[in-house]
Amino acid sequence: MLVTRAADSALAEACRTRDELAEVGIANQALIINGRFRATMPTDPIAAALEERESRALEKHADFLASIDHYTVPLRAENIVGGEALRQLLTPAPPDAPVETEPLPAPPPFRAPADIIKDVAAAGRGVILTMGKGGVGKTTVAAGIAVALARAGHKVHLTTTDPAAHLAATLADGIDGLTVDRIDPAAETAAYTEEVLATRGANLDAEARALLEEDLRSPCTEEIAVFRAFARSVDRGREQFVVLDTAPTGHTLLLLDATQAYHRELNRQARETIPEAVRELLPRLRDPGFCKVFIVTLPETTPVHEAAALQEDLRRAGITPAAWIINQSLALTETRDPLLRRRARSEHRFFHEVASLHPTVTATPWAVHPPIGAEALLALFSENQSSESHAKVHL
Ligand SMILES: Nc1ncnc2c1ncn2[C@@H]1O[C@H](COP(=O)(O)OP(=O)(O)O)[C@@H](O)[C@H]1O
Ligand SMILES: [Mg+2]
Repeated sequence: MLVTRAADSALAEACRTRDELAEVGIANQALIINGRFRATMPTDPIAAALEERESRALEKHADFLASIDHYTVPLRAENIVGGEALRQLLTPAPPDAPVETEPLPAPPPFRAPADIIKDVAAAGRGVILTMGKGGVGKTTVAAGIAVALARAGHKVHLTTTDPAAHLAATLADGIDGLTVDRIDPAAETAAYTEEVLATRGANLDAEARALLEEDLRSPCTEEIAVFRAFARSVDRGREQFVVLDTAPTGHTLLLLDATQAYHRELNRQARETIPEAVRELLPRLRDPGFCKVFIVTLPETTPVHEAAALQEDLRRAGITPAAWIINQSLALTETRDPLLRRRARSEHRFFHEVASLHPTVTATPWAVHPPIGAEALLALFSENQSSESHAKVHL
C-alpha cells in the first residue's frame, strides 16, 4: 500500500516508489490517496482553491492513477490520533461538519513576519537557514526571505537544493541584488571526485589509484561533496546575505566536529587538507550574530514533533534557532468552510505548543495561490500580513 497526498510532489514520489518496487519484482501494489479535500462550502475561496489544487495534481498524474488500483480517504477535520479516530478513518465519510459560527480562539502573541525580516536585515550580512520536514515550505520561506531582503536594498544570494528548481527559474531575473543558484549533487560529486584524483590520486600507482576511484564511488562521496558546497555558500555570508533552504542535520554537524578533532589529534598536517570554509563552518553556524536558523513547520502533529526533535539535535551541535515559522496556517485565513474551520481550530494547540518551544514564533497563512514568483513570496512577509492576518483569527 503506497500512501500519498493529492499533491504533485507526493504523487511523483509515489510513482517513483511504484517503479522501483516493480523493478525488483514487487508488483502487488495499491495506492491510497489520503486526506483528499472536498469543499463543503464551494463558495468559500480558500476551500475552492484547495480542492482545485488537489484536482490539478491528480489530473497531472492521471497516467499513474490509471495504472494502479487506488483508494481515496477523505480529509478529516481533526488529527487522527487515538483509537476512535483511527476506527473512523476508514469508514465512509462522516456527515458534513456543522457550519461553525463560534469565533476561533486568538493565537499567542506572535512576531509579525515583517519584523522577522527586519531582525535579519539588521545584521547587514550573514547566513539564513530554513530547516524542517519535507513539504512544510522551507524553499518557499527561504525564497520569501531572500526576496524581502533584496527589496530592502541588500545583496542576497539564494542557494536552493530543491530539485524542482522552479524557484530559481521564476526568480532568476528581475530582482535587483538577488542571485540564485542550486546545489546540484551530481555536479558537486563530479567536481569533488576530479579534485581528489588530481591531488591525492596524482602520485599513486595504477592499483592504488583504482582503489581510490572505487572509494570515490561510494555514496559518502556525494554527502561530502554536497557538504563542501554548503560550506562554500556559508562562507559567502561574510560579504552579503546568503539564504539556504537546506542544511546538514545537527547530527551530521556533530560528526563533522568529531572527525575534525580526530584528525587534529592524529596528524596536525591533516588540518591543512580540510578546506577553510569547512573548518570554519561549525563555529560560524554557532554564532547567532552570523547565522540565523529558522525552523519551518505546519500547525500539525507530525511536522511539529519532528521539528522539535530537530531543534534538540541542533542544540546538541551548539546551534540555537533564531525563530520558528508556522507556515500554511488555515487559522490565519478567512475560510468559512466548516471542515477547514475545524482544522483551523485544531491548529490552536500547535500554536501554543510551538510557543512553548521557542520564544520567537511567527506564522504565515495558507495562500490561495501557491507563493511562486517575487510578488507572491513578498506577500508572505509583507507589513500588512502581520496585524491583519492575526485579526482574521478572531472572525
Ligand atoms: N503559505 C503557503 N500557502 C500555500 N501554499 C504554500 C505555502 N507555503 C508553501 N506552499 C506550497 O507547498 C509546497 C511545498 O513547499 P516547499 O517550499 O517546496 O516545501 P519544502 O521546501 O519544505 O519541501 C509547494 O507547492 C509550495 O508552493
Ligand atoms: Mg525544498
